Amino acid sequence: MKYKAPLLLSFLAILFLVLLTACAGEPGIQGPVGPAGPAGPQGPAGPPGDDATVRLDYVGSEKCGACHEDAYATFMLSGHPYKLSKVVNGEAPVFPYDAVTGGIPGTPEGYTWDDISYVIGGFGWKVRFIDKEGYIITGDEDATTQWNYANEFADLDAGWVPYHAGEKKPYNCGSCHTTGYSPEGHQDDLEGIIGTWEFPGIQCEECHGPGSLHSEDPYGHLMVLDRSNQLCGECHYRGEKALIDASNGFTKHHEQYEELFNSKHFALQCITCHDPHSSAVYSDQELNPNAGIRQTCETCHFEQEEYAKVAKHFYMECTDCHMPKNGKSAQGNLDIFRGDISSHLFAINPDPAAAQYTEDGAYSMPYLTVDYACKQCHNGEIATEKTQEQLGDAAWGYHDRPIPTPDPTVEPTAEPEAPETP
Ligand code: HEC
Ligand code: HEC
Ligand code: HEC
Ligand code: HEC
Ligand code: HEC
Ligand code: HEC
Ligand code: HEC
Ligand code: HEC
Repeated sequence: MKYKAPLLLSFLAILFLVLLTACAGEPGIQGPVGPAGPAGPQGPAGPPGDDATVRLDYVGSEKCGACHEDAYATFMLSGHPYKLSKVVNGEAPVFPYDAVTGGIPGTPEGYTWDDISYVIGGFGWKVRFIDKEGYIITGDEDATTQWNYANEFADLDAGWVPYHAGEKKPYNCGSCHTTGYSPEGHQDDLEGIIGTWEFPGIQCEECHGPGSLHSEDPYGHLMVLDRSNQLCGECHYRGEKALIDASNGFTKHHEQYEELFNSKHFALQCITCHDPHSSAVYSDQELNPNAGIRQTCETCHFEQEEYAKVAKHFYMECTDCHMPKNGKSAQGNLDIFRGDISSHLFAINPDPAAAQYTEDGAYSMPYLTVDYACKQCHNGEIATEKTQEQLGDAAWGYHDRPIPTPDPTVEPTAEPEAPETP
């Protein structure tokens, strides 16, 4: 009995608590947020900002190459950086494809490498030389001072030709051939050179802007990224964009911008097709297997790939007909309508009577005639000689699908008997 009372008491206490909780009401609404506490102590001072007087400087392609290894590697196999080369210690400059072109054989007659300040070109087509006063070497009236590389397709050998012989020619070409050009002053204090530059040749910073701050802090300072045709058009251009200049039966060189503008590809960017860092003239098995071409014609024109009127052309590239070399930088052979710069007009006019150039020969039409599209081969050498009419006939509707001949009429078969329905 002794222990019964406390047990009963605890039982009652628990019962009481259970009842109490069961009877408790909903909790009330939360009260308002209390006032904010006092401010914490001030943090330490941040690092000093950029000196407002520090200007953006050019650092040179090699520096960019330390981080952008891939772009730099293909870039050094392309023409841009080699456009203008300074002669150092009287040594001839070398170019990545000297084994293909033969390189520079020497200096114009009467000059040694010690008399040359800069070499113009030498990557792809031809070479000109600048003397120690900054003038382009032209020589006297019968001098030959420009070296042309061979044009094997047109059967033309390498050799010396005149360049403005007998004239005094200042070097005023820097805006298209150098990096960070300014028209003021004379580079290296050579009076014949008009303007100054940061680096000879078209280096990374000519397209991306000066890179000193970006090189120190790549994430803090972005480079310029201009993807427009106007960027390339600053140099691959000759003047009025509606007019494609020509002379002596060939389109003048560096007019890719005008040609593209006058073609149905005007809405495409140069960089739709081209990797801006890679050569289009030479390919490299490892670094540049597609000659910098990002998209083939077939990517967009898969229908034309399917059908071609002339079966014997099965091995040909689209560019053989649509981008013939009707432009001329160094050498061309008009007998076979073949220069050394690829057209960017693309359209072929099958009319056998169409002319490629205006009557005075000064401007190109916005299409290619069968002369320039076909006769580089159809001249009795690579393929049979054909008349204008024969070529025109074959060119007409070149990729049209043959109209399918209707199926022979089949005897109507008897109506199948309807299966019996149960
Ligand atoms: C220290 C290494 C370094 C150096 C040196 C350097 N870069 Fe860069 N660069 C970078 C990095 C990292 C990025 C990526 C930044 C990002 O994605 O925001 C970049 C991005 C770029 C871009 C793309 C910018 C964009 O908006 O997408 C360009 C163009 C470029 N660099 C050009 C250059 C050029 C030209 C030089 C030489 C003047 C150069 N870089 C030097 C590291 C470097
Ligand atoms: C002729 C102009 C030109 C020159 C010279 C040039 N670039 Fe570019 N670069 C471009 C253009 C245009 C783009 C944009 C490409 C795109 O978006 O398809 C680009 C893109 C880039 C990018 C962004 C990533 C990429 O590859 O698309 C980097 C990084 C870059 N360039 C670095 C360099 C470096 C480093 C050099 C020198 C070794 C250089 N560029 C030289 C025009 C140029
Ligand atoms: C409006 C820009 C522009 C001007 C001005 C210009 N060029 Fe060029 N030049 C180019 C371009 C772009 C190319 C390459 C593309 C082409 O030929 O279609 C080129 C190619 C060349 C080549 C051949 C390069 C090689 O590797 O074979 C030589 C040589 C040359 N130019 C010399 C000159 C001289 C000399 C002057 C001044 C009297 C001059 N250029 C003025 C843009 C220009
Ligand atoms: C500042 C002038 C300049 C600008 C801008 C420029 N180019 Fe050029 N380009 C040249 C010159 C000059 C040459 C001839 C270089 C040589 O032969 O050494 C050339 C040559 C080329 C070549 C042929 C050489 C090779 O490497 O195969 C291609 C392709 C080319 N440029 C494409 C472009 C594209 C695409 C752009 C725009 C993203 C562009 N260029 C912007 C001046 C320029
Ligand atoms: C990025 C897509 C694209 C690529 C790559 C491309 N094209 Fe085109 N092409 C077009 C477009 C878009 C048109 C305009 C079609 C139209 O107006 O009917 C066109 C039109 C043409 C025309 C007709 C021109 C005319 O005036 O009738 C020809 C020819 C042509 N392209 C050839 C080529 C060749 C050759 C290549 C390769 C070197 C090529 N294209 C690469 C998109 C492309
Ligand atoms: C539809 C694609 C396409 C477009 C757009 C295009 N190109 Fe090309 N380009 C090519 C192809 C393909 C080649 C190589 C042609 C060949 O092998 O015969 C080439 C070659 C070149 C060459 C080398 C010159 C030569 O004769 O070997 C230069 C320079 C050039 N392009 C500059 C430009 C410029 C600048 C633009 C913009 C204004 C541009 N291209 C737009 C496809 C294109
Ligand atoms: C890259 C070289 C090349 C180009 C460019 C070229 N052809 Fe041909 N073509 C050939 C070869 C090779 C043959 C086969 C040998 C022959 O008949 O002479 C051929 C054959 C032909 C034939 C004869 C077909 C037959 O069955 O006998 C015609 C027609 C023809 N081509 C028309 C053209 C036209 C039109 C163009 C321009 C729009 C053109 N070709 C451009 C190389 C070319
Ligand atoms: C033997 C020369 C030759 C070759 C190679 C060639 N074409 Fe054509 N292409 C022509 C001719 C000629 C025309 C003009 C036909 C007309 O106007 O009736 C044409 C027209 C075109 C057109 C304009 C639209 C059309 O169908 O008429 C496009 C796009 C085109 N070709 C793309 C290509 C592509 C892509 C390739 C490579 C797969 C290619 N061509 C190869 C000769 C050729």
